[in-house]
Amino acid sequence: MTVQITQGLKPEAYYDQSVYDQELQLIFARTWQLAGLASELAKHNDFLTVQVAGKDIVVQNFDGKIKAFLNVCAHRHARLHEKSCGNNPLRCPYHGWAYNSEGVPVGIPGNKPFFNFDRQEKASLALTSVDVAVRGPLVFVRVEKGGPSLDEWLGTCGPHLDEMAPLFADLFDRDEAVWHANWKVAVESTLEGYHIPYVHKTSFSPMLEGGDEPAEQADLVLDEDSRLIELGHHSYGIAPLSDDGRASIGRYVSRLGLQKSTHYKGYDHFFLFPNMTVLISGGTVVGAQIYEPMGPEATHLRFWMLLPPSTKPAQRASAAGHAVEQKLTEFNDLVLEEDRIISESVQKGKHQTHRPAVLGTNERRIALFHNEWRKVI
Ligand code: FES
Ligand SMILES: [Fe+2]
Repeated sequence: MTVQITQGLKPEAYYDQSVYDQELQLIFARTWQLAGLASELAKHNDFLTVQVAGKDIVVQNFDGKIKAFLNVCAHRHARLHEKSCGNNPLRCPYHGWAYNSEGVPVGIPGNKPFFNFDRQEKASLALTSVDVAVRGPLVFVRVEKGGPSLDEWLGTCGPHLDEMAPLFADLFDRDEAVWHANWKVAVESTLEGYHIPYVHKTSFSPMLEGGDEPAEQADLVLDEDSRLIELGHHSYGIAPLSDDGRASIGRYVSRLGLQKSTHYKGYDHFFLFPNMTVLISGGTVVGAQIYEPMGPEATHLRFWMLLPPSTKPAQRASAAGHAVEQKLTEFNDLVLEEDRIISESVQKGKHQTHRPAVLGTNERRIALFHNEWRKVI
């Protein structure tokens, strides 16, 4: 049997400053990056802040209109919002300049005596606008103007976001972490199931069918229920849950009356190039992650965990509901921590060899990821 082994990227690509600078400019400034959830921007004055390709960006709801700007005051360049999310007017904390939905500083304390700006002069001071678009449950921004629309960029992944949108009903955890590893090392840790029996032996592995079996059985390729679907430059992997995995999610579903998906049934894992994943377990528990580059050897991970709507709201709000949230949060934190530790180990290893990694057929999603990267860098 011929087996197609491929070569990974050269190790230097995981720490070299000039590669990193190119990535920011050619990948991160040009792709749609996740800002947060549409539900986090549902009300007037709801805002999110995010850093993309080295730029601080604020996304804000102005009476139902979602706008994004560079998060830099026109007066003396303070950040307009500091927190990662919240509800406040777009007003600078330094001297109180207040901005409208066009990014124009319409409220300037002491304008008459100190500046005497007329309407036109104020308009000329408008904040730099940034492209923002919403698809299904997610809000994306793009730093560089031009290029494909969000829907074009999502391609065949877009309908999946629509399909899964109802599951994003109930946000119960929103957190972040810093990993001392290149963003690609972090992404690669999510793109195969090969490591699951080793790195997640007692945590995640028992949730998956065959998850306790080492090596080739344990990957997201390629039998009846376990598949890899290429979605343009994005990809979708499905792994069947074990009986235990199904049973434990089933218990949450019935106890809390959760309206699970009829479409997603296994461990459904979406990767949106270059650095975002959406995971759905048993059509019920949703996790969204973005691995943001913070430097050649540091990654900022932001993640959200959600449950679908409940037909038993009293149960959902009860101590039993909170216990489920806590269990899922702890489980997710543990699995991510296991991935962080192994990723930081890989990062150190990259410095000690010039040989590229070898990728087996069960690491095809990593090879696809590398192909997309090579097209750009
Ligand atoms: S820097 Fe923003 S109001 Fe002065
Ligand atoms: Fe992992």
